[in-house]
Amino acid sequence: MNVLDNSLLDEGNPAFDQRAFRRALGQFGTGVTVITTKAGEELVAITANSFSSVSLDPPMVLWSLRRESRNLVAFQQSERFAINILAADQIELAGHFSRSTTDKFASRSWREGIDGLPLIDGSAAQFECRRVAQYEGGDHIIFLGEVDYFRCFDRVGLLFAQGRYALALDHPGPPSDLPLQVTAHPRDDFFLPLLVRSYAYLSGAFAEHRDAEGVDTNQSRVLAFLATRAGASAEIIARMTFLGEAAVEDSIAKLVGMGWVAPRPPGTLAITKEGLEGMHRILERAHRFEEEQVADLDPADVAATRRVLLALASRGGH
Ligand SMILES: Cc1cc2nc3c(=O)[nH]c(=O)nc-3n(C[C@H](O)[C@H](O)[C@H](O)COP(=O)(O)O)c2cc1C
Repeated sequence: MNVLDNSLLDEGNPAFDQRAFRRALGQFGTGVTVITTKAGEELVAITANSFSSVSLDPPMVLWSLRRESRNLVAFQQSERFAINILAADQIELAGHFSRSTTDKFASRSWREGIDGLPLIDGSAAQFECRRVAQYEGGDHIIFLGEVDYFRCFDRVGLLFAQGRYALALDHPGPPSDLPLQVTAHPRDDFFLPLLVRSYAYLSGAFAEHRDAEGVDTNQSRVLAFLATRAGASAEIIARMTFLGEAAVEDSIAKLVGMGWVAPRPPGTLAITKEGLEGMHRILERAHRFEEEQVADLDPADVAATRRVLLALASRGGH
């Protein structure tokens, strides 16, 4: 390891800091699935990102389930399970199927597969599997399945990385010192590649400012939410910020440690005066950062760009 690398966040024996270990695991981006089964007449579904492809011949996949899950027995009893790979517009379903509620299928659109397996409408892909093995995996059980039938739809998958939901952006390529010459490469003279490149640049450059305040993206998202919704529970925060529950827990622990968030009985949280001040400092930095980035540009162009981006963003409903 390069000990001079000051970007190292954590290291050590995972047994001593489970949170840090989980954060390191979160650096591996995954898709998001809803895994379903039918045990007797009971329909079961949970959100899982532990899915992985295993073998092409025979066609095999695996995923792992927390031993403590209420649904463990159902998945162990049933000989089949279905993997539904969620599409980018199914973020609400990911949250829905990760909650411990009964009758998760009410008012959701699904259909029956082999042996009545529930298949979620609108998925990016579906795999109907026969369970061929299950293995002990510490506090999880690993299910290995052979795929009997698959469907792939013309939809883009939802992603999960660093504890939060994400979308796939085409990589803009390695950074270059050469100025971008759109006339030399006409394919770059389109909004999409230009937006992807500017986004990659801006988000990378702004990270430094957020780091300077000692918070990461997830923590600042939790903070911003609590600034408007004092008294929210961790579950509500996870639901409304579209962060995973583990990421919310970690962020709250960090923010409470900093004195920026305080636990309020029963099971709720509120932003403190220090937290509000911290958040305002981050917002100020964001304003200043934007001003610096466009300081050498014509203010009329900047205003027009903002109007164009706003119009495009609201067309997509975001
Ligand atoms: C993005 C995401 C990925 C998840 N991945 C898994 C997983 O791979 N295995 C698992 O057991 N739980 C996973 N969970 C948690 C389960 O969805 C959640 O614990 C479960 O649905 C709650 O129901 P239960 O306790 O009744 O099983 C994940 C949750 C989210 C939001």
